[in-house]
Amino acid sequence: TAPALMDQFGRTISYLRISVTDRCDLRCRYCMAEEMTFLPRSALLSLEEIALIAERFIARGIRKIRLTGGEPLVRRDVGELVRRLGRQLGSGLDELTLTTNGNRLAQHAGDLFAAGVRRVNVSMDSRDPDVFRFVTRHGDVARVLDGIAAAQAAGLRVKINTVALKGLNEDELPSLLAWCMAEGHDLTLIETMPLGQIDEDRTDRFLPLPVVLERLQSTFPLVGDSHSSGGPARYWRVEESDTRLGLISPLTGNFCATCNRVRLTTEGVLYTCLGHDDCVDLKAAVREGGIAALDQALDRALASKPERHDFDIAGAAPAVSRHMSVTGG
Ligand code: GTP
Ligand code: 5AD
Ligand code: SF4
Repeated sequence: TAPALMDQFGRTISYLRISVTDRCDLRCRYCMAEEMTFLPRSALLSLEEIALIAERFIARGIRKIRLTGGEPLVRRDVGELVRRLGRQLGSGLDELTLTTNGNRLAQHAGDLFAAGVRRVNVSMDSRDPDVFRFVTRHGDVARVLDGIAAAQAAGLRVKINTVALKGLNEDELPSLLAWCMAEGHDLTLIETMPLGQIDEDRTDRFLPLPVVLERLQSTFPLVGDSHSSGGPARYWRVEESDTRLGLISPLTGNFCATCNRVRLTTEGVLYTCLGHDDCVDLKAAVREGGIAALDQALDRALASKPERHDFDIAGAAPAVSRHMSVTGG
């Protein structure tokens, strides 16, 4: 069997995030500038190329694949890709999942479940229509709520991803958690990260999650939970409920020591850290050299995976110039 993917710090890589498009039908303020230049379609990996790369990753020990974007459900052939990757479940792959903005989830939920997806993460920063519209610039929260309901009806477990934003959703976080408890969803809160130039200063909206946790603890009986989803969140459980509260704190609590993931962009570039520019081009390898070249490129990538990110929200410039929508979160 092919050797597992291990980096120079002894971390085993078992989680692949694949960005299937850099496009998105929303424009969240902390993520994108109002005017974005997207890649021409000719620059994108084909479905076949994504699948070949993913299958090689699975042979090299990847157990969890998450499709991201941009917004993964705006890619036209995403359903076909999910079906193809879904066939790997049970033979190497343990989990196939997506992170979506929920806008088009209602029309896809049934097909996702049929292909073997069992949970989805839905980004929703507010249930208040005005706040949601302000944050996303284009979004209609009613559509996202419909998508979430459809996902649940199709049998998918839903985790809500909420970026904690000072002065925007700050006061709403307790009621959001209460809503998740009532609906049977998990909730994960995220600190805003300095990735890519946006139209405003991220410092103005930065809300440290230790502060949020302390406030939530005054209202909810939260107990530490050793659960791991294989992602960066640390979990709490709301006592006597099914709801888990996850906290992703890249700024106030670096979690890089247990990093298990790498990211493939829609152009076929493999980034080994969200917060650095280190990368290798897998597109050339898969187009010209097949499996042997791909394996060499993977080994080269792993050998140079950075130890940790160095995010600083008060920094003058973003940590890296590419937006989250390019690397896929
Ligand atoms: P689960 O499988 O539910 O644990 O999901 P996940 O947290 O791995 O993925 P999701 O797409 O829901 O990501 C939630 C947030 O975590 C996003 O803002 C990601 O950018 C961020 N995130 C995921 N992996 C990393 C990482 O390695 N470093 C940093 N800094 N952030 C990450
Ligand atoms: N910092 C933190 N989270 C971000 N997301 C997008 N951009 C950023 C950023 N700069 C979040 C989205 C989504 C997830 C994939 O990443 O809200 O939940
Ligand atoms: Fe789109 Fe997600 Fe970025 Fe919002 S955070 S603009 S939904 S990619």
